[in-house]
Amino acid sequence: MDRILTMEFVRVTEQAAIRCGRMVGRGDKIAADQQAVDGMRQEFENVHINGTVVIGEGEMDEAPMLYIGEEVGTGGEEVDIAVDPLEGTNLVAKGQNGSIAVLAIAPKGCLLHAPDMYMDKIAVGPRAAGRIDINAPVKENLRRVAEAMERSVDDLSVVILDRERHEGIIRECREAGARIRLITDGDVTPAIEVGIEGSGVHMLLGTGGAPEGVLAAAALKCLGGDMQGRLVPHSDEEVRRALAMGIGDVNQVLRIDDLVRGDDCIFSATAITPGNILNGIQYFGGGARTHTVVMRYRTGTVRFVDTIHKFGNRKLSIKL
Ligand code: FBP
Repeated sequence: MDRILTMEFVRVTEQAAIRCGRMVGRGDKIAADQQAVDGMRQEFENVHINGTVVIGEGEMDEAPMLYIGEEVGTGGEEVDIAVDPLEGTNLVAKGQNGSIAVLAIAPKGCLLHAPDMYMDKIAVGPRAAGRIDINAPVKENLRRVAEAMERSVDDLSVVILDRERHEGIIRECREAGARIRLITDGDVTPAIEVGIEGSGVHMLLGTGGAPEGVLAAAALKCLGGDMQGRLVPHSDEEVRRALAMGIGDVNQVLRIDDLVRGDDCIFSATAITPGNILNGIQYFGGGARTHTVVMRYRTGTVRFVDTIHKFGNRKLSIKL
């Protein structure tokens, strides 16, 4: 994919964040999501791609914009797009940390068409790449990651969604001596964090959304990290949906290169509320400031983009 597109996608996640950021703490996750969708959809109108949304806001009959199968862009390279205009709707509604506007782009056919269901996930950064096994016990994975990172298990910090379904893995982590960061929502942000040394977290474990799993895999692929996933269908209907989306075996272990195939993908995430690696959006008279991480797998370039946006004609003075 043309590298010029990289900055185009930054604009797309920035616009989603700018629109949605106004809804922080206002207790309305649906309105917040709508703002993000509108901002993202509008900005795609300016991007020179022939894009198909493969992971989006839902099926065509349930989402008017950024639905699965929607074509976006003004024409150009054929690409598949995974979007989550607002990842962490509750976080924005409650004004809590960790929400992002996020997308991943890859050449046509390279992103797993993940159905809207749960996925078991394990994710680590570059130093532990190749050492994880979603079929192995939690303690064994912790041991291997600790060894790869040349530290002891009690020096590891594991991010887990705070859900009843995770009681077992939380207990296993604690018994092994690892530290845990329980999060209320949003498991894409910590997947980016485990890929970046110094973020303070070393592993992501547990069950979250499958679409979010593909976005996380795109980020980790660009960062040189590793991830495995496995769908968790809860009904025959979900099994049928997975089959219809081209996943032949729902029990298959999905490796990072199954989630995001090939040697080209671009990932962009703009913070809405603050996180460990990105500052949240700030508004001021006449403008706003956003922080984005954008990465390209082919070159391994990771950019942290700090942007001042000017609204209208008001004169802006830029401050550090
Ligand atoms: P939304 O942005 O759609 O609210 O999803 C946030 C999220 O926390 C994801 O990051 C995560 O993968 C999934 O929901 C977890 O699902 P659940 O809340 O059902 O446990």
